[in-house]
Amino acid sequence: MSDKKQTSGWKKFVQSMTKAHELDKEEEILTDHDYDGIKELDNVLPPWWKYGFYITIAIGIFYYVQVFTNPEKYSQEKEYKAAVEKGKQEVEAYKAANPELFQLDVTLLTDEESLAAGQKNFATYCVACHMADGGGGIGPNLTDDKWILGGGMENILKTLNEGGRAGKGMISWKNTFNNDELQQLASYVISLNGTTPANPKAAEGDIIWSKQ
Ligand code: HEC
Repeated sequence: MSDKKQTSGWKKFVQSMTKAHELDKEEEILTDHDYDGIKELDNVLPPWWKYGFYITIAIGIFYYVQVFTNPEKYSQEKEYKAAVEKGKQEVEAYKAANPELFQLDVTLLTDEESLAAGQKNFATYCVACHMADGGGGIGPNLTDDKWILGGGMENILKTLNEGGRAGKGMISWKNTFNNDELQQLASYVISLNGTTPANPKAAEGDIIWSKQ
């Protein structure tokens, strides 16, 4: 009994949502439109569809009022800046949690493999200014004991990371190389110390260091 009630309640609901015309009474709403024998029923728009339509209009008005009368709260620029800020904080937090990944290793590498890797990058990225043998050109001579920015692993790594003095031409390489590659490059530069380049540029700088 209660089953029957439910079914009829559901049926009523479906009927109210669709306003479907009973099949056997279709001729009541048959129009006189006739397209090559295809006829047309004058059905009403189903209420469920109309309600959906009204809801989108309501949401549209709500959205418009929210977004366009509230530029402080809904600003793409602000959202973007907040996202960038959040990203930066996440990077900092990651760095703080994994210091070993970001610490530059200032150990001088002397094994052949590391120096060969350093030389390979040096030959690609550095020769234009420092020459293949480190004798110098636009950049200073890297084979002598005098340094503008400081010799030794720590200083050279700092130079590679941060670049030279503004406007001199030595850029920061930290976005080109990872920490291992920087360590190899710095070690290779140090390995050039004391060698005799073909056309050595006069020593520059006054920081004297010795390869200990
Ligand atoms: C566009 C030219 C240019 C390129 C390319 C370049 N350098 Fe330099 N480099 C310079 C100049 C110029 C200086 C001097 C900077 C200054 O006076 O502040 C310099 C300085 C240096 C120094 C410090 C020298 C000192 O006396 O303190 C090192 C080490 C060095 N470069 C290594 C490299 C390495 C390694 C590369 C390749 C990854 C490289 N450079 C690529 C132009 C260049």
